Amino acid sequence: MSCSVTLKKLSYENGGNNLCKDINLNVSHKEKIAIIGPNGCGKTTLLDIIAGLKQKDSGLLELFHNKIENEKDFKPMRDLIGYLFQNSDNQFLAPIVIDDVAFSLLSAGIKKEKALLKANMMLDDLGIIHLKEKIVYNLSGGEKKLVALAGVLVTEPRLMLLDEPTNGLDYKMQLKLVEILKKIDKSIIIVSHNREFIDSIVDKIYEITPNGLVLIESLSDRIKPHSH
Ligand SMILES: Nc1ncnc2c1ncn2[C@@H]1O[C@H](COP(=O)(O)OP(=O)(O)OP(=O)(O)O)[C@@H](O)[C@H]1O
Ligand SMILES: [Mg+2]
Repeated sequence: MSCSVTLKKLSYENGGNNLCKDINLNVSHKEKIAIIGPNGCGKTTLLDIIAGLKQKDSGLLELFHNKIENEKDFKPMRDLIGYLFQNSDNQFLAPIVIDDVAFSLLSAGIKKEKALLKANMMLDDLGIIHLKEKIVYNLSGGEKKLVALAGVLVTEPRLMLLDEPTNGLDYKMQLKLVEILKKIDKSIIIVSHNREFIDSIVDKIYEITPNGLVLIESLSDRIKPHSH
């Protein structure tokens, strides 16, 4: 089976804290999964490792069938992965909304006119075109999340890592995000405390436990009639 992410016995210690221990996970091509767990259990840390922002201490990490051991291995993967940070303030690349959303496209070598057109369309799709000339740092929490999300979605990454994507979003916006993410035909890993949200998008839900990652729900369980 074609896999976007493979983790085998992956551990990250961070000075003896053992934040991620013996994590096993396969995310297939175009599969959507969620990772849940209590505050501080290491969800963001795990996404950081998959995104190459933190280095594992042991175990196997493969992205699109490439073994990742160091920054050099990670470099060709960078454009394939889109990461929505838990804290949107860490996400912004330019002070004005439209420039921020177009930034990754421009740095990927797309011509300015086309990059701005795509960025405009993305803002329109998310219903936030009115924010386009605003300064990102002055936006509300939910608006920041949406602009950050636009910046991730616009690059059409093959693997999307979304850390608490509904934080700060009103209910209507959450429903809109469900529709958008359902339509996306790519691999997505969502970290969220919002169970209703993830239930309506993902195929499988995993929980981080002291003994590693445990599959607690899969779509095949949900659609199967219960047998007694
Ligand atoms: N750079 C760091 N230095 C020291 N400790 C850290 C660092 N980054 C994270 N931690 C600790 O690692 C643990 C896991 O953090 P992480 O952010 O991965 O949790 P989380 O599961 O995402 O939590 P939440 O649901 O609150 O977002 C926490 O106890 C945190 O304090
Ligand atoms: Mg977190």
